[in-house]
Amino acid sequence: MTALPTSIDAVETLLATQGYVASRALATVVFLSLKLGRPLFLEGEAGTGKTEIAKTLATALGRRLIRLQCYEGLDAASAVAEWNFAAQMIAIRTAEGATDRDALQTELFTEDYLIERPLLAAMRPQPGGAPVLLIDELDRTDEPFEAFLLEALSDFQVTIPELGTIKAPEPPIVILTSNRTREVHDALKRRCLYHWVDYPSFDRELDILHARAPEAQETLSREIVAFVQKLRREDLFKRPGVAETIDWAKCLLALDVIALSPEVISDTLGAILKYQDDIQKLQGSEAKRLLDEVKRELVPA
Ligand SMILES: Nc1ncnc2c1ncn2[C@@H]1O[C@H](COP(=O)(O)OP(=O)(O)O)[C@@H](O)[C@H]1O
Ligand SMILES: [Mg+2]
Repeated sequence: MTALPTSIDAVETLLATQGYVASRALATVVFLSLKLGRPLFLEGEAGTGKTEIAKTLATALGRRLIRLQCYEGLDAASAVAEWNFAAQMIAIRTAEGATDRDALQTELFTEDYLIERPLLAAMRPQPGGAPVLLIDELDRTDEPFEAFLLEALSDFQVTIPELGTIKAPEPPIVILTSNRTREVHDALKRRCLYHWVDYPSFDRELDILHARAPEAQETLSREIVAFVQKLRREDLFKRPGVAETIDWAKCLLALDVIALSPEVISDTLGAILKYQDDIQKLQGSEAKRLLDEVKRELVPA
């Protein structure tokens, strides 16, 4: 088990060893969240590295990553634990004719028949130390589930009616993410440290590309980042995230491209733009205009 980082610099270094390039502000909230044992709430556009930070932190700290992927209709049972009905039925069948029905009843609602889901798993002691609990894309669930989470995260415990309350001996490291398709309730946010994960600056995105697509030549990497940064300022239905920058670089590398051209861009736009309207807008003269700007600006003064 790796000890928790003792400074903001140490957080930056720890993440960097895993190829994650954090801004100073993000490294600061991560540090505080670890130090104060508070859940971290990360909000931001898709593809800005919110999910990745939880994965990176788990790997870097040698902790187990437990992920609760949220979706519409997610309920407490699916998040905490469910009874294994099939196994219970078999036990009942096997015990048919047995006289001690009360004993059977009690036995059916023990841990042997419980299917553990992420929230319960996160409250259990783990060999490498408290796990990293990633509650991903919270904005996809509904308010009742948020209220339920609020309770679970306040005391780091969950209650299973038939079994009782299970409390984490050591609180998990909790990271919640939201793509902000709706506002998450204030009460839940108040329990957490909050950080808006923005698109990275040119320099930081270039560092990310160096870390994630090191094979790309410097000139090409700079062109890619500069072009994507410009694209984000256009009026698009869906702006490209960092994930798209990396994907695009990999596509260009696979095509042996050494420098951007309007043709190359229009042939590979699908790697960065995922809506036909956006692609159409950018094809042809618009892509050329942006690229001309990029080439002009990247020429050293
Ligand atoms: N700061 C960063 N450093 C390194 N890689 C990053 C960074 N931000 C994003 N990425 C890359 O972008 C990809 C998408 O990030 P992800 O965490 O899935 O985005 P989100 O959860 O915010 O939608 C990741 O797989 C990772 O490779
Ligand atoms: Mg995500």
